[in-house]
Amino acid sequence: MRPDIGNEEYDAVKKVLESAHLTEGPVTQEFEKAVASYVGAKHGIAVTSCTTALHTVLEIVGVKGKEVIIPDYTYPATAEAVELAGGIPVLVDVDINSMNMTSEILEKAYNDKMNIFIPVSWGGVPLEPEVYKTAKKLGLITLEDAACSLGSMIGSDRVGKIADFTCFSFHPRKVVTTGEGGMITTDNDEMAERCHSFKHFGMKEGRFAGSGTNYKLSNILSAIGVQQMKKIEKIISDRTERARIYDELLAKVAGVRAPYFKKGTRQTYQSYTCYVEREGMRDKIRQKLAENNIESQIGTYALHLEPAYAKTKRVGSLQNSENLFKNALTLPLHNQLTVEDQERIYSVIMSCMAS
Ligand SMILES: Cc1ncc(COP(=O)(O)O)c(C=O)c1O
Repeated sequence: MRPDIGNEEYDAVKKVLESAHLTEGPVTQEFEKAVASYVGAKHGIAVTSCTTALHTVLEIVGVKGKEVIIPDYTYPATAEAVELAGGIPVLVDVDINSMNMTSEILEKAYNDKMNIFIPVSWGGVPLEPEVYKTAKKLGLITLEDAACSLGSMIGSDRVGKIADFTCFSFHPRKVVTTGEGGMITTDNDEMAERCHSFKHFGMKEGRFAGSGTNYKLSNILSAIGVQQMKKIEKIISDRTERARIYDELLAKVAGVRAPYFKKGTRQTYQSYTCYVEREGMRDKIRQKLAENNIESQIGTYALHLEPAYAKTKRVGSLQNSENLFKNALTLPLHNQLTVEDQERIYSVIMSCMAS
């Protein structure tokens, strides 16, 4: 990943520095409005990261002592936010193709003491619409961990408009970045106000009325975000163009499956993550890529295999998550990547798979 940063971001940061208003302020509000209006939600609440965004929502909804379903295949941040809010994560499997939780998996793991769950739209792949419908049917609040999915769409709806609450990340590995940063989007007026209060030490109308902390996003970082939001569509279309080139190249390699794409949706290719079907070969490919000075990544983690989550409650088999952890491969993707670079990457993969 290489962030798309231009002169606009430098100028906007300089303007904030010259204004002397460095902490949260009018530029943060402009950023909140830009993200909310982009996804089609009523409110945007800017915070310091996706992790603190998830924590904020879980605190105001209240999960102390309650079980919260999350996918096993995710970055540990999803589980950490639950534990930070006093909840008990319950790990479930994901679909091997979309790499996301499904409605069937949700239904099997649900019990009537739960009030909220956290599906992850991983890597830029939106959730199946049935997940939201099933949650409604069960009376569960949907808190979507869309750290990787700003710009993803189901039909004409953008991720961020569909769930009760959606949390985004602006870490530099995301489609748009503020260095570090996060955003909650929701249509719920009362909860939005409570999120604002929580990230502001619990302050409401000048009084400290409830619990809170300091998760404010500064004007400085928000200034980068405002400029990034003006470019997001171009960034996604550049990524999609390169993803199509990879798709065509990988179609020629037996045993490597290109990332999931469902007609009628838009995935942003925040991570171009393919699946290597031959056991042990993913790591050999990564090693060969590294020898050729090409950086690659795994997909993400199977939490139950990490020491911190070895004893965490789970429902059902976590086999797909485990297979993805062992076999998923994320390839380089950024706006300076040339067709020649992509062909070179393909050749390394091809030669490993042919060996
Ligand atoms: C699914 C998921 N959730 C949460 C996070 C954490 O985001 P942040 O670094 O903004 O806290 C990540 C980070 O990559 C992620 O992949």
